[in-house]
Amino acid sequence: MLSSVRYRLRGMVRNSVRWIARRLPSSIVTQAANSLLSSYNFADELQRMQQADRVTTQIPEMSSFRGERLQQYVLASIEPWTRFPLTPTTIPGMLTRAEEKYYTWIAGFYEGVGDVVEIGAWLGRSTSVLVQGLLKNPKFSGHKLHVFDGFTWFETMNKWMPSDMRSRTPQVGESFEHLFREQTAEFAEHLDCRRMRLAANFGGCLCDDTIPELTWSGGPIELLFIDCGGTLDVNETWFRALEKSFIPNRTLIVMQDWQNFKSVPYPCWVHTKQFTDLHADRLRLLHEIKEGGIACFLYTSPAGHRQPTG
Ligand SMILES: C[S@@+](CC[C@H](N)C(=O)[O-])C[C@H]1O[C@@H](n2cnc3c(N)ncnc32)[C@H](O)[C@@H]1O
Repeated sequence: MLSSVRYRLRGMVRNSVRWIARRLPSSIVTQAANSLLSSYNFADELQRMQQADRVTTQIPEMSSFRGERLQQYVLASIEPWTRFPLTPTTIPGMLTRAEEKYYTWIAGFYEGVGDVVEIGAWLGRSTSVLVQGLLKNPKFSGHKLHVFDGFTWFETMNKWMPSDMRSRTPQVGESFEHLFREQTAEFAEHLDCRRMRLAANFGGCLCDDTIPELTWSGGPIELLFIDCGGTLDVNETWFRALEKSFIPNRTLIVMQDWQNFKSVPYPCWVHTKQFTDLHADRLRLLHEIKEGGIACFLYTSPAGHRQPTG
């Protein structure tokens, strides 16, 4: 009885709000919707921070070659990577300074029990900061960084091209592998680079489907860096191809653009959080950085853990 009264009251309130809202200018309604979405994202962040506070002790013991113990940092007030010095590079890129430092810092936790893989390198800026970190780590000696990218130029890349290279901007649909190889020539001996695609379609741009889909015939993967778009299709493709090579409680998966789902208004092609939530039984949030889009997940065995990322 009480619940049916409550149900009817709620319906009346909703109808009244709708009646008023429909008479307001649409810009005000859009603003209100965006504010509500921002508030939701804020509350969602708080939940992840609280969850991180509760589960810190369950992180398997992992240390960097510098002797630093791996801990959980979810929008933490102190982030250890921000102290990290970086050697300047002129390679064009899309990462924030904090993200570059994060790539260099996390490379210190590589133990040499598997490979390091990067998917989505563009012109090689992330590759270069990653190699900087890996080369400092003695455990990387004798290993290579495996880089995969479709190397097909999308229109959205034009605005990231620095002015001194603009005259060399490829046409949409053309390969830019030669530019990647040129920019990374200095440390090419540490790379194993291949042109592969993750899905037929990304952000409305068709990938050339003569490019083979991502496959992995190597051994276990210890460190994985993903920066290649947010659709479920793309993320499921790398997950399907690589999961058999992940090491439970050891493989770290760094998703550079994970936090893009927080954009307001919400971009419909970003499914990064849906993807990690769908695999929450295997992906455990370790790091969510403050200045950038990175989140890092620990791969756990399917039955080992169930914790939604928010
Ligand atoms: C955001 S950019 C990477 C930026 C780079 N990490 C940096 O530091 O500047 C995304 C990259 O993913 C690649 N990519 C996007 N969609 C892809 C797909 N479906 N298959 C293969 N590569 C793709 C693009 O070619 C591009 O190089």
